[in-house]
Amino acid sequence: VRVFVPSDTTALAMGADAVARELAALADRRGLDLELVRNGSRGLCWLEPLIEVETTGGRVAYGPVAAADLPALLDAGLLEGAQSHPLCQGLVEQIPYLACQQRLTFARIGVIDPLSIEQYRAHGGFAGLERALPMAPEAIVEEIKTSGLRGRGGAAFPTGIKWDTVRKAGEGQKYIVCNADEGDSGTFADRLVMECDPYMLIEGMTIAGLAVGATRGYIYLRSEYPLAQRNLNIAIERARAAAYLGDSVLGSGRAFHLEVRLGAGAYICGEETSMLESLEGRRGLVRAKPPLPALEGLFGLPTVVNNVLSLAAVPFILDRGAQAYADCGVGRSRGTLPVQLAGNVLRGGLVELAFGVTLRELMEDFGGGTRSGRPLRAVQVGGPLGAYLPAAQWDTPLDYEAFAEVGAVLGHGGVVLFDDTVDMGEQARFSMEFCAVESCGKCTPCRIGSTRGVEVIDRIRAGDRPEANLSLLDELCTTMVDGSLCAMGSMTPIPVQSVMKYFAEDLRPTDNRRR
Ligand code: NAI
Ligand code: SF4
Repeated sequence: VRVFVPSDTTALAMGADAVARELAALADRRGLDLELVRNGSRGLCWLEPLIEVETTGGRVAYGPVAAADLPALLDAGLLEGAQSHPLCQGLVEQIPYLACQQRLTFARIGVIDPLSIEQYRAHGGFAGLERALPMAPEAIVEEIKTSGLRGRGGAAFPTGIKWDTVRKAGEGQKYIVCNADEGDSGTFADRLVMECDPYMLIEGMTIAGLAVGATRGYIYLRSEYPLAQRNLNIAIERARAAAYLGDSVLGSGRAFHLEVRLGAGAYICGEETSMLESLEGRRGLVRAKPPLPALEGLFGLPTVVNNVLSLAAVPFILDRGAQAYADCGVGRSRGTLPVQLAGNVLRGGLVELAFGVTLRELMEDFGGGTRSGRPLRAVQVGGPLGAYLPAAQWDTPLDYEAFAEVGAVLGHGGVVLFDDTVDMGEQARFSMEFCAVESCGKCTPCRIGSTRGVEVIDRIRAGDRPEANLSLLDELCTTMVDGSLCAMGSMTPIPVQSVMKYFAEDLRPTDNRRR
């Protein structure tokens, strides 16, 4: 009997290794015939460790399982997939949280052993690369344009147009750089891809290389993801041994080499030009644009910089065709968005859905409301630089343009919930403080403005001329938006202004507030 125990960081943090060890020991002691498989995670975080047992009817799930639960689970018929135990969640594919998703990018995640190249292939892996190999570069780019894929790092720039710029930028050395410096609060989709399906990223980057004529790629990975680093490096080694990477990809005569480079924990190194500086061995200082990295990027040469999720969407598009991807979504937001539900939420996890679903459906139908059971008050979408949305905006559909209309951003798909005990004045202060700590310091509105922002908010909250200081805060926000060199300084005012607009009562002096 095959039993799957997940091995991603969330499952490990929740005790998956102890569960695996105890299961192996019990199997030994009881003489049970079981094969332990360390799969990736399905992304149903609140059920981790979610173990699965293979039966003729499908994989039966149990979770959250602690090592101490195993004897009773085995007695109750775990290996037969018995469903009587209270931890049994039924057939995993039928858990509504999973069954109601449209997993295009995350289709294999949690299903396979992340490092098995055979299992990757058996589940459709490398089919996109095999289709791309004989295609002309412009045909591959055309396929990406037709799919409607837009950058999933947050800025939503059309990926096909970016690739075309690099493709047309002469004949010399070019690079593919994957931005894996996933720094937004509440986000973990990039990590899941790298830990649980690393070959998909390798395949996406290799296809990008073929499309633009780049023979070398780098994955810029945040150092806080040691397991992703390990899995990527093993997967790269195995892909090279199987000729999916190297001087002649699958004997085509076309080269693609790939390496992982570690960051050192700076949020700003997720900004593309700062990341390129860091990759070149310097401090992560933002570069002025233009020139665009597409024309003068890594080492001054044409470079595709894409987020993990953008590159991970590519194998599906090449394998199943651009139309299959474009058929999902609404308006100019085509395909799917892997949303990450976090914060004070009952069922936190990864939800991949076609654009168009509303925030409320996500938070209620999938998230199940707050973990505390208290009323939901605010939700921050798009990381620490995203707006705090009040109840009146929860019917906004996930769609880049619809979010822009309400002054918000979808960003990298992070959705962080807060219940009614949240102090939104404190959250506004945190935004400015975060910017002050993480600013690269190159431009004045961000470097100094953020520090002044913290002081002004402190004065407002202390009751020191609140009206005058609120007006000063507003002016400061405008200056930061208009005068900052990159998104760090120009987007920090978004959460601050959303608090001023929708949660103004929390900016009153601390003593006068409702709690
Ligand atoms: P941007 O709008 O300046 O650029 C978007 C991308 O398109 C860049 O790669 C840029 O080089 C490229 N581009 C623009 N015009 C082009 C052209 N004509 N040809 C080829 N390429 C072109 O946005 P930026 O500053 O790169 O990113 C800001 C976003 O980052 C924000 O919206 C925010 O949501 C997101 N973000 C994401 C984080 C994460 O952890 N994923 C963290 C912080 C911010
Ligand atoms: Fe650096 Fe901030 Fe200016 Fe961006 S806005 S360049 S992070 S100082």
